[in-house]
Amino acid sequence: MTGGFTVAIDGPAAAGKGTVSKAVAAHFGFAHLDTGLLYRAVGAKMLAGTEAIEAAQTLVPEDLENDSLRTPALAQAASKVAVIAEVRAALLDFQRSFAARAGGAVLDGRDIGTVICPDAQVKLFVTASAEVRARRRFAELSGKGHTDSYEQVLEDVKARDARDMERVEAPLKPADDAAIIDTSDLSIDQAVAAAVAAVLAGLDASTGE
Ligand code: CDP
Repeated sequence: MTGGFTVAIDGPAAAGKGTVSKAVAAHFGFAHLDTGLLYRAVGAKMLAGTEAIEAAQTLVPEDLENDSLRTPALAQAASKVAVIAEVRAALLDFQRSFAARAGGAVLDGRDIGTVICPDAQVKLFVTASAEVRARRRFAELSGKGHTDSYEQVLEDVKARDARDMERVEAPLKPADDAAIIDTSDLSIDQAVAAAVAAVLAGLDASTGE
């Protein structure tokens, strides 16, 4: 196999991509990149006063080691900077290099299977209804002490979905050859099992080439 074995996992906000991606990476010993953190880090720098394109062009790995990147405010800021073509272009090489690393890689985001790694050996699109996703994100945020109501979280999720799906650059959509995993009625274990099975099938297919 030339290059690495890449698993691309895309989907809308709070669909369970992060949990599934981490579990798949741990199961197969692959490296994992949560590409949403790149956009969140650019959003954080923008809110701190740096122009968005410059922030993306000067992003360094340490910028991702910031515990506050997962706040609702930075989710919205991330989706605003993510519509800018030059921001996305500045983050491309880092993501592609990560995907090509020896030993396998899982990247999760919005455009991994469509734009960043169109040749990924496995492509998954993890989704769930907006209400289920908002309920999960609400529970996660409440656990961290945030006071947003369920209705506010649902509104934020819907606003971000709309911005991500309607943008011109790398809109959120499943790749033609992605397997769809709808986690609305699945437990975490069931969602992870479905993803692991898809990766096993991809590994089989690539060793048979
Ligand atoms: O964790 P959650 O699904 O809520 O969000 P995230 O994956 O951290 O992504 C935050 C925002 O970054 C998204 O709403 C997108 O606008 C943007 N993003 C993107 O455009 N492309 C990616 N590959 C990953 C994130």
